[in-house]
Amino acid sequence: MGWNNWNSFGCDVSENLLLSTSEQLVSLGLRDLGYQYVVLDDCWQQENGRDQNGKLQPEPSKFPNGLKSISGGLHDRGLKFGMYSSAGEMTCARYAGSLDHEIEDAESFASWGVDMLKYDSCYHMGRIGTPLISFNRFKTMSDALQATGRNILLNLCSWGEDFVHTWGMSIANSWRISGDIYDAFTRPDDLCGCDPNVLSDPYCIAPGTHCSVLFILNRVAAIADRSIPGGWNDLDMLEVGQGGMTDEEYKAHFALWAALKSPLFLGNDIRAMPAAAYSIVNNPAILALSQDPHGRSVTRVRRDTNANKDTDTIPLDEWGVGETHVWTGHLQNGDQAVIFLNAAGDDLNMSCSLAEIFTAFGPGGSAPHVRFDWAVHDLWAHRMDIDVAEAILAAGTAEERGALLRKENWYNATETPYADGLRDGDPRLFGEKVGVVEAGGVLRASVQRHAAKVFRLRRIAKDGQEFKGKSIDRGVKDEL
Ligand code: GAL
Repeated sequence: MGWNNWNSFGCDVSENLLLSTSEQLVSLGLRDLGYQYVVLDDCWQQENGRDQNGKLQPEPSKFPNGLKSISGGLHDRGLKFGMYSSAGEMTCARYAGSLDHEIEDAESFASWGVDMLKYDSCYHMGRIGTPLISFNRFKTMSDALQATGRNILLNLCSWGEDFVHTWGMSIANSWRISGDIYDAFTRPDDLCGCDPNVLSDPYCIAPGTHCSVLFILNRVAAIADRSIPGGWNDLDMLEVGQGGMTDEEYKAHFALWAALKSPLFLGNDIRAMPAAAYSIVNNPAILALSQDPHGRSVTRVRRDTNANKDTDTIPLDEWGVGETHVWTGHLQNGDQAVIFLNAAGDDLNMSCSLAEIFTAFGPGGSAPHVRFDWAVHDLWAHRMDIDVAEAILAAGTAEERGALLRKENWYNATETPYADGLRDGDPRLFGEKVGVVEAGGVLRASVQRHAAKVFRLRRIAKDGQEFKGKSIDRGVKDEL
């Protein structure tokens, strides 16, 4: 979790941007919700390439005190420093790349106190086309980072090329699975390629730059289970707060990225953050899905593309019409996350049976879980009030903000890690109980157009008490 400058600033990077953003991350309580990495993306280098010793150098007008001083500033604030390079002769913005310079560049990153490297794939000199060719190209940097002795996370940014989801976990901590996200919920665009439904591009030759939230969800669906603790599918940086989507669309985007265990990098200018965006990305009940110790992604158990076929009446920017999804997954304490996504043009009533929700434990209703009653918790129920969010954003000092957050008793994961809060049943992580699904029954909810309902199902024992912090697998066996 963290922040990356690319979505909102592109090449307009500087020391001031990183340090002022990092101050804001801390004072808004975002660091203490887990947003720790501050990532400097492309365009940080000087224009004329490497210095006379072959070393990468930052552009002095952007970084007058060098990069070590940035990492020092971030570390002093309890944050971590992420940086960017490309496994090519140039970065995507045509600065010097690290291909065939991996050892000296890894040493530079380590000497600057870098904690994470986002490693792009532009200008790869043709070293692409089979999984092994790509694997070897990226492995060279992975090995070079290891050799520095510094713990540096590696994020591969090869946009899903060469089946990175099948080998990324061997050498990296996360890997992008699509072309670049853009600030649109369902709008298709020819600049986003590699459609999983189009067999003409099985090798993902043109990943592109205009990928909608819905496109990325459809792309990850078949490989969602490839995310494992320590190696994650990266759905790209968040667009929340950028202005191109509605509040409900941003809530859906954020919750799905969390439940799919994507790295969560804020992509907006958090120094000028709308209150609505702040109150989306600071929701601890949603973040607890992302940080659940079980560490497995939700998967999709249902996709319906016929929910609303009235395409004639749908404006162009609402393509993706008719599509609804149900995503679900097991959580460490035996709860079950369920997300109803309505990407159709109209509000809809959606439903899903317990038999379908628990398919992973046995198809056709054979999972023992189906024989229990489940309490339904709405994880958006305790979203921060907009006037509280506005007051925090408007507060003049970090002290005032801290006082307001404490008054709200807002979650602080630095003090209480999510794993502890979940184990102890901290109510701030469980939303609000809004109903019950009886054994063998069906979960139903009305879902607005372009929105998601996000639930945590909690098993109810025979005496009517919800189970707290107990594994369903053990619990079920005990009772059978
Ligand atoms: C793209 C990458 C973006 C951003 C950009 C910088 O390849 O997917 O996230 O890093 O390069 O030029």
